[in-house]
Amino acid sequence: MRILAIGDIMGKPGRQALAHFLPSLRVEFAPDVVLINGENAAGGFGLTEKLYHQFIDQHEIDCITMGNHWHDKREFVRFAEQAERMVLPANMMNVNDPRKAVRVLRSKSGKNFAVMNVIGKTFMHADNLSPFLHLEKMLDLIPQHVKVRILDIHAEATSEKQGVAQHLVGRVSLVYGTHSHVPTADERILDGKTGFITDVGMTGPYDSVIGVRKEAAIRRLMTGEKKNFQPASNNRWLCAVVADIDEDTGCCTKIQRLRCEVPDRPDDGPEEKDD
Ligand SMILES: [Fe+2]
Ligand SMILES: [Fe+2]
Repeated sequence: MRILAIGDIMGKPGRQALAHFLPSLRVEFAPDVVLINGENAAGGFGLTEKLYHQFIDQHEIDCITMGNHWHDKREFVRFAEQAERMVLPANMMNVNDPRKAVRVLRSKSGKNFAVMNVIGKTFMHADNLSPFLHLEKMLDLIPQHVKVRILDIHAEATSEKQGVAQHLVGRVSLVYGTHSHVPTADERILDGKTGFITDVGMTGPYDSVIGVRKEAAIRRLMTGEKKNFQPASNNRWLCAVVADIDEDTGCCTKIQRLRCEVPDRPDDGPEEKDD
């Protein structure tokens, strides 16, 4: 079973990169399952119902994972209750429910798989609960016969992502990090069982500071003032991993990192107001 897991979609540039590359990636890799992280998809902050449907219905994404920005669009919070193809970070205080963080789904090729989402504690919001404790409850929610188990660990600290992955070796098929918006080059298979990468990287504009317009980000770093915090426009990359999972054992047999760059056209002007 082949999984294509795509990192944080950042605003319109991220959505453009997804639309640009997904059709050809489907042809080249023939994934059974396509996952995206959607926490920044709407103007860099959160997700909307409209974009959720665009991803699920038009792009045929199998499941959307989220992160600390999941609730940024207030009107989305109510909709999230009924979004069957989305997982929220179980251990965020405003989620705190393993059932909202696990989805057992069936691919179009008729194969069962589970998707999970947790958030880190280190260098993150002080209220975040232990991902380790929540993961035990989440794994209990997955039927024994579902061997393909995938986790998006949305965390700042590389050490915490690696610690969670090493703790889960042999119990989860694929653990991939999101949130830093920077891809790491350490994709590997832990103990011959669990596919892992510390961070998949952002799908969005890299002529930026982690996706945000350079000028605004530099001003924030220099003065603390948060103004015009919007997605940048140029150097749009799609970052992802492709992982093969043995459906009988749940073990990862191959993991490959992808970085695809949209050719920027000279007339690509600044980002207009996003939705
Ligand atoms: Fe993000
Ligand atoms: Fe995040």
